[in-house]
Amino acid sequence: MPDLYTVSARYYDEAYASADDLQDVQFYVEVARRFGGPVLELACGTGRVLLPFAQNGISIDGVDSSPAMLEQLNKKLAQQEASVRQRVSVFSGDLRSFRGERRYGAVIIPFRPLQHMYTLDDQIAALKTAAFHLTDDGVLAFDVFYPRPESMLAGIGEEKLELEWNTKDDPPKTIRRSVRKDSVDKIAQHFSATYLYRTYRDGKLIREETAPLKMSWYTYPHLQALFLLAGLEPVEEYGDFDRTPMNNDSRQMIFVMRRSR
Ligand SMILES: C[S@@+](CC[C@H](N)C(=O)[O-])C[C@H]1O[C@@H](n2cnc3c(N)ncnc32)[C@H](O)[C@@H]1O
Repeated sequence: MPDLYTVSARYYDEAYASADDLQDVQFYVEVARRFGGPVLELACGTGRVLLPFAQNGISIDGVDSSPAMLEQLNKKLAQQEASVRQRVSVFSGDLRSFRGERRYGAVIIPFRPLQHMYTLDDQIAALKTAAFHLTDDGVLAFDVFYPRPESMLAGIGEEKLELEWNTKDDPPKTIRRSVRKDSVDKIAQHFSATYLYRTYRDGKLIREETAPLKMSWYTYPHLQALFLLAGLEPVEEYGDFDRTPMNNDSRQMIFVMRRSR
């Protein structure tokens, strides 16, 4: 599978800094504070979540398979104070097969990397990687989106503007990210899409780049079956990062799990 993030890595942090509805970092920090560290973030990307942990005094290791995402993370790490850098180790590795030497009080997989697992074997392998790294009392916390059947299958070929932000350049440029769903595999439960990044200066389009996106989706019973197969059991589950319970209007499925007793 080619690295989906080669282009997106350059836009990632600014894009999600502009996403006001993405309020996940505090949730994950709070899980680590309640259940204890150290913390392992599987699929840590650019460190959007990992760096705030280290800045808040929590030791955290990160693993990701994308050289482009890890390059962004390492650039940001180099700008941190030594005390922050010392709390972080970064590994290049695959969510399905990574085996580190440490065990962790909290393993986190924030912002849907499990939706980059496209087969049952890969989904189970990823959950087993998380379970492998837990201490006896450790917890795994992760989120995936709550699939809405009406929108999963709709809008193929349509372009939808998702995010818009201004760069820090002087004068700033405006970047708009749109997404176009290209195809849906209803049997295997995943969709392929294209991100379109358009950069404007003084209202004029000066650059356009595209990046592929492929995501699987999970239903709640599907996840329950995966948990059994991976030897995990839920401790807590939520429908949003403010810890509202999961219900039919939920936008997220968020789980805190432990190894099955
Ligand atoms: C949406 S980003 C989430 C990054 C980070 N957790 C965050 O919250 O910002 C998904 C990440 O999953 C990583 N990823 C996808 N497939 C992976 C795999 N098989 N092994 C490790 N990382 C993977 C991507 O490289 C990307 O950094």
